[in-house]
Amino acid sequence: MNSGNGQSTLPPDAPTTGADTIGNELTSTLASGEKGTIRSLIDSAMQNNPYFAAGGGLMLLGTGLALAKSGMVKASRLAYKQMIVDLEIQSRDKSYSWFLSWMSKHPQRISKHLSVRTSYIQHDNGSVSTKFSLVPGPGNHWIRYKGAFIRIKRERSAKMVDISNGTPFETVTLTTLYRDRHLFQDILNEAKDIALKTTAGKTVIYTSFGPEWRKFGQPKAKRLLPSVVLDKGIKEDIIEDVHDFMKNGKWYSDRGIPYRRGYLLYGPPGSGKTSFIQALAGELDYNICILNLSENNLTDDRLNHLMNNMPERSILLLEDIDAAFNKREQTGEQGFHSAVTFSGLLNALDGVTSSEETITFMTTNHPEKLDKAIMRPGRIDYKVFIGNATSYQIEKMFLKFYPGEVNNCKKFVEAVESLGSSVSTAQLQGLFVMNKDDPESAIKMVHTMKTNEEFVV
Ligand SMILES: Nc1ncnc2c1ncn2[C@@H]1O[C@H](COP(=O)(O)OP(=O)(O)OP(=O)(O)O)[C@@H](O)[C@H]1O
Ligand SMILES: [Mg+2]
Repeated sequence: MNSGNGQSTLPPDAPTTGADTIGNELTSTLASGEKGTIRSLIDSAMQNNPYFAAGGGLMLLGTGLALAKSGMVKASRLAYKQMIVDLEIQSRDKSYSWFLSWMSKHPQRISKHLSVRTSYIQHDNGSVSTKFSLVPGPGNHWIRYKGAFIRIKRERSAKMVDISNGTPFETVTLTTLYRDRHLFQDILNEAKDIALKTTAGKTVIYTSFGPEWRKFGQPKAKRLLPSVVLDKGIKEDIIEDVHDFMKNGKWYSDRGIPYRRGYLLYGPPGSGKTSFIQALAGELDYNICILNLSENNLTDDRLNHLMNNMPERSILLLEDIDAAFNKREQTGEQGFHSAVTFSGLLNALDGVTSSEETITFMTTNHPEKLDKAIMRPGRIDYKVFIGNATSYQIEKMFLKFYPGEVNNCKKFVEAVESLGSSVSTAQLQGLFVMNKDDPESAIKMVHTMKTNEEFVV
């Protein structure tokens, strides 16, 4: 092995050897006559001395290997970049939680870091049950899906916080080979289907939580429309109007009119206003966002923000809108009760900008408190009185609870009519629930409803 030959094969930017450096230093300090003698001495030492020769060879070998290694690293990085694909899902995106739930159910996975997600369910009878599901925590995870390996990396940003709800900003990144990239779409579709199946046939109720909408309890089984008994024709008319509105999106957009419609249901308490709107949402396969305007800490700003940021396919239900007409000034700054103002409500109704249709239902027990300004088209387009039980409703409700009891039904209707004051449908329901399977007893107890004066309007 010859160090001189070896050196000539190195690229120009390769590091020089130690022996060469010493030689150069010496040559620069010595006179040219002595220079030749010393160089030949060094050359002969290097050629004849086996230790020098072996050292030089090793150095070259080391340099060569180092270069080859960095070349391979670069090449493999390039190949990696060419051959793999990433999919990033941000925590803001709806599919984020769908994906985490999907993964917690996926059988072929290797996860060492898990997070717990607790769901809390309050049943209608007041009992509470909790369910824990283990979802992939921050860190790396591997899954095998349709024969392909996919790396999942969940990251949580310590610095960035989602300002709308104060939770840390997170991302999940899926990485797989380029040829398997279509699997991302399959996974997202599966995750969506699973998520939607849990809410299929159910109505999701959203209520406000600070500036955002949050699911209120678990999705509820749809309330069926026939279970709500309104006076003759009322239900059918409203439903027809809603369907008609929903069919006419093009008509609105062609004329540049905001695609929204407002309904006002007014009448005494317990007449089925809220129940009907929930059943209608179920019928249309919509969710429902409920805001109570008499709620203390609801301000104009929050109302506006919430109305402009509704989950899709939702009906907005504004309960007790008369609360906004009690005061025209908001008194929150002075430390008093702060509520939505009349102008705040009008602004919010006018300002809703949505690419989808906006259906707003409003309810009140005090229509006389409402200002005429709210009755303008675009704010309230359809107004209907939902009153206390009529004979038609009493009969229908009785036969729903006691099917086939036609004679008793007649007696019951007569008994209620002879009360001399009207009763609410909620009161009737209460009486029937108290006398399950016993229509005679229900008839005997009709007079007890009279004492419920506070509910009679
Ligand atoms: N017309 C009706 N048909 C069937 N059930 C009814 C009817 N009216 C009331 N109910 C029953 O009475 C209860 C109260 O009804 P709901 O909350 O819908 O009344 P509301 O008109 O919204 O009252 P409020 O004005 O106090 O909000 C519910 O459990 C509901 O099932
Ligand atoms: Mg109500």
